[in-house]
Amino acid sequence: MGRASPGFQNYRLAVALGGLFFLAFLLMRWGQAIARDWPEVLLFAFLSIVSESLKINLQKSAAMSVSFLVTFSALLLFGPAAAALIEAVSVFNWDDLRLRLPALTMGFNAGQLAISMGLAGIVYLLAGGTYGNPSHLSYPFALLPIFLAAATFFLANTFFVSIYVGIAEDSSPLSIWAYQYEWMVPNHLALTVIGVVLAYLYSGTGAVGISLLIIPLLIARQTFQVYMKLKNAYLETVRSLVQALEAKDPYTRGHSERVAEYAEKIARYMKFSEAMIEMIRYAALLHDVGKIGVSRKILSKPGKLSSDEYQLIQEHPKIGAQIIHEVDFLREPLSAVLYHHEHVDGNGYAFGLKGEEIPLMARILTVADSFDAMTSARPYRNAMSVEDAYHELIRCSGSQFDSATVQAFLDATDYYQELESRKGAEEVVTEKT
Ligand SMILES: [Fe+2]
Ligand SMILES: [Fe+2]
Repeated sequence: MGRASPGFQNYRLAVALGGLFFLAFLLMRWGQAIARDWPEVLLFAFLSIVSESLKINLQKSAAMSVSFLVTFSALLLFGPAAAALIEAVSVFNWDDLRLRLPALTMGFNAGQLAISMGLAGIVYLLAGGTYGNPSHLSYPFALLPIFLAAATFFLANTFFVSIYVGIAEDSSPLSIWAYQYEWMVPNHLALTVIGVVLAYLYSGTGAVGISLLIIPLLIARQTFQVYMKLKNAYLETVRSLVQALEAKDPYTRGHSERVAEYAEKIARYMKFSEAMIEMIRYAALLHDVGKIGVSRKILSKPGKLSSDEYQLIQEHPKIGAQIIHEVDFLREPLSAVLYHHEHVDGNGYAFGLKGEEIPLMARILTVADSFDAMTSARPYRNAMSVEDAYHELIRCSGSQFDSATVQAFLDATDYYQELESRKGAEEVVTEKT
């Protein structure tokens, strides 16, 4: 589905208009706080725009902004209408203005933010929360409305965006949500707590209180940005290493990417943490990087390899490990690269490790790597069918491959689904004949 499809247009328009009506309702119901405290509301709107302008883009197209903590403290200080309004105007931040987003997208953003924050405010009041002076909140009872409000905002906001991405990319909003946002929950909780602290500081000390909190946050942001830049530089390193390999061995073009995809599926199915999944992706992208050290003649030889040549090829896990050894952040993937040709029965190379002696990350890579190798054509043989490759994995499960990993791969990919659909198709054919 293209970005300009009617469904996509309608969704953005509906959310933008819905947000406008909802905001009007909130203003009629709780707008008096804005009329009374408008200079302060203006100050918070300004802070919200500034903090949204300073957001740091993370991977997975998510961004971390601190504007939520500003609007959340506005909820405690000025109520739902002010908070929703302040949240909505944060779309006029420098970062988004610079991108010259289409008006409809801006409207969608403002709409979904206003609805999410407005709903959060209503939930907050319904659960017994009060606004105005945070020092009047009685603990621990006030924790419930605070928590419910923060959860409502997070769920509504990520729900709107996941559907947006789902329609734009024609994929399931739920899996987008799990991938993009699940890991941000702790982050969001931390911002909520800081938001509450900001409300206290502001009501106690006014603008001085804000600077007491904002200055350390800006310093933290600076540190975080340096970290993200470093991480991007690492990613570039990985990419250029993979490119160098692919330039040399055209048969591996796309191979590393596909192996990374399979390995990620297995790791997700095995409930690895996001940090480990990232490491396994690096390991998969780089697993054959040692082939840079093997001559092109051997790599693209169409016939059978001599035993000397085969020995040279078998050096590639070690060469790969040597190459990435110097890169600090690739410590974790290193052993997976080094052991990706070991077999659980001890008949693999380069060390002949057995069973659990082989790190789990390496066992995962072996399955992912072999599946892609079998299903793609090589200079010396044609590609195997997907079904045959699955059968080969099952046949060698427990000897070449770790059986738990093979099982995870079958469960995590569409193997069973495919079997079922094939069976269904066969039945139809039999009926017809
Ligand atoms: Fe390899
Ligand atoms: Fe490979």
